[in-house]
Amino acid sequence: MKNVLRLCAESEVIEGVPVSVEIEGIPPLAVYRVDDEIYVTNRTCTHGDADLTEGFQEGDLIECPFHGGSFSIKTGGVVNLPCSVPLKTYSAQVVDGFVCIEKPE
Ligand code: FES
Repeated sequence: MKNVLRLCAESEVIEGVPVSVEIEGIPPLAVYRVDDEIYVTNRTCTHGDADLTEGFQEGDLIECPFHGGSFSIKTGGVVNLPCSVPLKTYSAQVVDGFVCIEKPE
């Protein structure tokens, strides 16, 4: 991968407890473990200014702590209203024990 960003150690990411990552120049991110796979999405809900890492993960769903909307962690697709705009997702890889994504444009 070119322009790789290291987000956090893979071992920090526990299923059901999303990890918040802030890197200058890109939107805040959320890192999740689902069935032993790692997924990365934007951290901010698309309905309002809520931090999804303060929400509730159940399997591959993340429920927003503000109004209860939810998204698929795997695809970013909207699962429950009032959210209507999908959540941005990133392709994650684990390199040398760290969760990495390609730097977004
Ligand atoms: Fe997330 Fe409203 S801010 S559902």
